[in-house]
Amino acid sequence: MNITINDRECSAQVGDRLLDVARPHQGHIGYFCGGNAICQTCYVRVLEGAELLSPMSDAEKAMLSDRLIKEGTRMACQTLIEKPGKITILSEVEAAKRMTLENPLQLPAYMGKMGWESAVKFTDTIAFQARREQGEYALEATQLLHDVAVAISDAVQLIFDALQSAFGVKRPADKPEERAGNGCCRDAALLAKTVTGDNGHTRIVSAEVLQLHQERGAVCN
Ligand code: FES
Repeated sequence: MNITINDRECSAQVGDRLLDVARPHQGHIGYFCGGNAICQTCYVRVLEGAELLSPMSDAEKAMLSDRLIKEGTRMACQTLIEKPGKITILSEVEAAKRMTLENPLQLPAYMGKMGWESAVKFTDTIAFQARREQGEYALEATQLLHDVAVAISDAVQLIFDALQSAFGVKRPADKPEERAGNGCCRDAALLAKTVTGDNGHTRIVSAEVLQLHQERGAVCN
């Protein structure tokens, strides 16, 4: 099944955590604590399919205000897909980004609202974190450090990719050799004589190359 995160189609399965679905698809959900219910950057608004997701966890009950819950907010690191169906999600970091680009004058009110909703749950949040020595939410220091390191490394990679894209540098995935994922056209010299169609497949455009590919038994259409 696919779910939609910030208008991006992401492949997912029942049992997957929303955060784990978003990460490989660069779905733009924050996770500075590596998915350990600490940083509160993984808030998402469920626009469709709330009934297909796991019930609100204790961590979410502790951290999310009544207003945010009413608006359909969940923590992506705490929410699992329980049933197949149509699920559409908008992350708070993406919402803030869009607001910055489209209507920055709304930002102060938005930041004020999110700050206030965090403040009203401050005591519950601290109490929850203080109880985490044992039980379902117990934190293991080595695992936590590892998760945070992975989160930071992913964030650095995203920034790096964004900078490369801003300066027009082609990423490996954009290069023809990498695009030919259907097994064809591995040879870079041959790829220079091919084009990529709308369906993502590489199409041969010269008779000479076509012949070479036919000899190899790997012809793209
Ligand atoms: S990823 Fe940090 S609280 Fe969810």
